[in-house]
Amino acid sequence: SASDKGGWSSFMAKEVSEQPDAVANTLRGRIVDGVVVIPELAEFGDDALARIRRIVIIACGTAAYAGQVAKYAIEKWAKVPVDVELSHEFRYRDPVLENDTLVLSISQSGETMDTLMAVKYAREAGAVAISICNTQGATIPRESNAVIYTHAGPEVAVASTKAFVAQIAALYLFALHLARVRGTLSSAELLEQTAELQAIPEKIATTLLQGDAVRQLATWMTDSRAVLFLGRHVGFPIALEGALKLKELAYIHAEGFAAGELKHGPIALIEPGQPVFVVVPSPRGSAHLHPKVVSNIQEIRARGARVIVIAEQGDAAVLPFADTVIHIPLAAPLFEPLLAVVPLQLFAMELATAKGLDVDQPRNLAKSVTVE
Ligand code: G6P
Repeated sequence: SASDKGGWSSFMAKEVSEQPDAVANTLRGRIVDGVVVIPELAEFGDDALARIRRIVIIACGTAAYAGQVAKYAIEKWAKVPVDVELSHEFRYRDPVLENDTLVLSISQSGETMDTLMAVKYAREAGAVAISICNTQGATIPRESNAVIYTHAGPEVAVASTKAFVAQIAALYLFALHLARVRGTLSSAELLEQTAELQAIPEKIATTLLQGDAVRQLATWMTDSRAVLFLGRHVGFPIALEGALKLKELAYIHAEGFAAGELKHGPIALIEPGQPVFVVVPSPRGSAHLHPKVVSNIQEIRARGARVIVIAEQGDAAVLPFADTVIHIPLAAPLFEPLLAVVPLQLFAMELATAKGLDVDQPRNLAKSVTVE
């Protein structure tokens, strides 16, 4: 049941392990003969979705990082400009909303007050609001024009894990649906990307097999004072999420950066022994970005950084420069975040556990923040 740990040492350990199901259940029934079908959006009609000129994603915390990942997919596939905004920043600055703007909110609980206020504001301003939510009948979906539920199952641990991958899965379904009604991807491309999405649960299961290696790494790193995370393209929001998990669970100062920004500031932080996680894009799928990130790795390694690389299975280019390599299965570029986030979740959980901390109930945090 939702209220017991089912033999796991924590709810978080259980929920991390449930991620293949969280994604599979979110996809279930929504892909028919290889084509995405979202009945929840039927009332809009394809015409209305085809007319959208801009999407504003609003969310807080981990959900906002799911939104940042989805921006890459929506713009690539559906060719609609996407802005990702923290709910509380959006709500109080007189944002420009037109009636062809779609506001897409993301919330595990559906009760986050900042996000709820932003949705209400957007609707009053005349925008159409769709919510991505994990909790049936919650307030945010009730205040929205439509809801696409994630089916991650109840998430008990304060730090969000399985809801995050389920949010990305739901957002990708939405992006593929949008691409179809807007005619921005061919049928062959739609089928190919949809098949990639369907292959994710099994690939997450494979990634989870890295648990022991990550635990060992975490055990060595309990004395770290600060940890940096670098990523590029969809790996950037994953770097941010990896840093957030470490702050939340292990109370270690952690910061995520876009790898391309390294030389514009963060490289000044690198000194001998500084641990840096690097999310490396695929050498096959992202042949144009891979060498740039490898050269970032060389730059920080030359300054003594302790480099922990998350790279695609078979990526030989990173091996000479990494202290530790964690492998993820092959996936198309936009799908890598669903895999790369897993070792980062495990790392934060294992490091917090090694420090004797309560991973389900970190200090000062609440599962759902129902005040502004
Ligand atoms: C809290 C939780 C986070 C979560 C955020 C947004 O801060 O501790 O884990 O990401 O709220 O929550 P929501 O329910 O809106 O996804």
